Amino acid sequence: MPDLSGKVALVTGCASGIGAATVRRLAADGAQVLGTDIDPAGGAALCASAGARFAVQDAADRARWDEVVAEAVAAFGRLDILVNNAGMVGGGPIEDADLDAWDRVIAVNLTGTMLGCRAAIRAMKVNPGGAKGSIINVASTTALAPLPTDAAYSASKGGVRVLSKSVATWCAGQGYAIRCNTVIPGATETGILDRTEAEMPGFKAAVAATSPMNRLAQPSETAAAIAFLASDECPFMTGAELLVDGGALSIHPGF
Ligand SMILES: NC(=O)c1ccc[n+]([C@@H]2O[C@H](COP(=O)([O-])OP(=O)(O)OC[C@H]3O[C@@H](n4cnc5c(N)ncnc54)[C@H](O)[C@@H]3O)[C@@H](O)[C@H]2O)c1
Repeated sequence: MPDLSGKVALVTGCASGIGAATVRRLAADGAQVLGTDIDPAGGAALCASAGARFAVQDAADRARWDEVVAEAVAAFGRLDILVNNAGMVGGGPIEDADLDAWDRVIAVNLTGTMLGCRAAIRAMKVNPGGAKGSIINVASTTALAPLPTDAAYSASKGGVRVLSKSVATWCAGQGYAIRCNTVIPGATETGILDRTEAEMPGFKAAVAATSPMNRLAQPSETAAAIAFLASDECPFMTGAELLVDGGALSIHPGF
C-alpha cells in the first residue's frame, strides 16, 4: 500500500461512490483528509467514519474553493493531494441539449476541476519544504468513447483529460514538484450508475458486458489507482492517464 503518512489530502464529492472510497483509502494509507460534498449529512457521516474532516462545498462555487483549501491548510498545515472527484451526469443528447443542464454539468465537472487545480497549486507552491503536491482529476471512459446520450458529460470529461495535461506541463515548466494526472474509471458501482439504471433498466448489465472482465468496477478499485498517483511512488508520472476500466477500451470492438 502507498505510504501517505504526513500528507494532507482534499477530496471532493466525498459522500458517495468513488469519492467516499477515496477518502477511506487515503485515510487508511495514512493521510489526513478533508472531504467535501454538496451533501452535508452524507459527507459528514462518511468523513466521521473514516476519521476525516468534512466541509460542505459545491465544486462549481468559485469563492468556496479558496475557503476549503484554506481550511485544509489551517487544520493540517499543508496541502499535498487534491482529488477532483465531484461530478454529475445529465446533459442529454445533443438534439435535446438544454443549455441550463449543459452549463451546470460543465460548471461542476470541468470548471470545478479547473478551480480546484488553481486553488491547490497556490497552496502546494508554498508548502513547508517547497513546492510539492499531487493533483488527481477523475475523468471517465466517456472522455475517450463518448456517450451519444450525454453530450455535456462526455465533453466535460474530455476537457478534464486535456486540462490535466495543461496543468501538469505548466507546473513542470515552472519547476514545481506538483504533478497532475487523470484517472479514467469505466462503469463503476456507484450512485451515478444506480440513477442511470433507474432511468434505463438493464444499463448496468449492458455496460458490465462491455468490459472483458464482464463486471462493473468497485469504487475501491479506482481509489487504489488514486492512492498510487497521490503517493511518492511515481514521481516521474505527470500528465498521465490511468485507465481503471477492466480493459473495456483496450479490446477491438469486433470482440
Ligand atoms: N460511476 C461510474 O460509472 C463513473 C465512471 C467514470 C467516471 N465517474 C466519475 O467519478 C466521479 C464520482 O462519481 P461516482 O460514480 O462516485 O458518483 P456518486 O453519485 O456516487 O458520487 C458523486 C458525489 O459527488 C457529489 N457531488 C455532485 N455534485 C457535486 C458538486 N457540485 N459539488 C460537490 N460535490 C458534488 C455527490 O453529492 C456525490 O456524493 C464523478 O466525477 C464521475 O463522473 C464515475
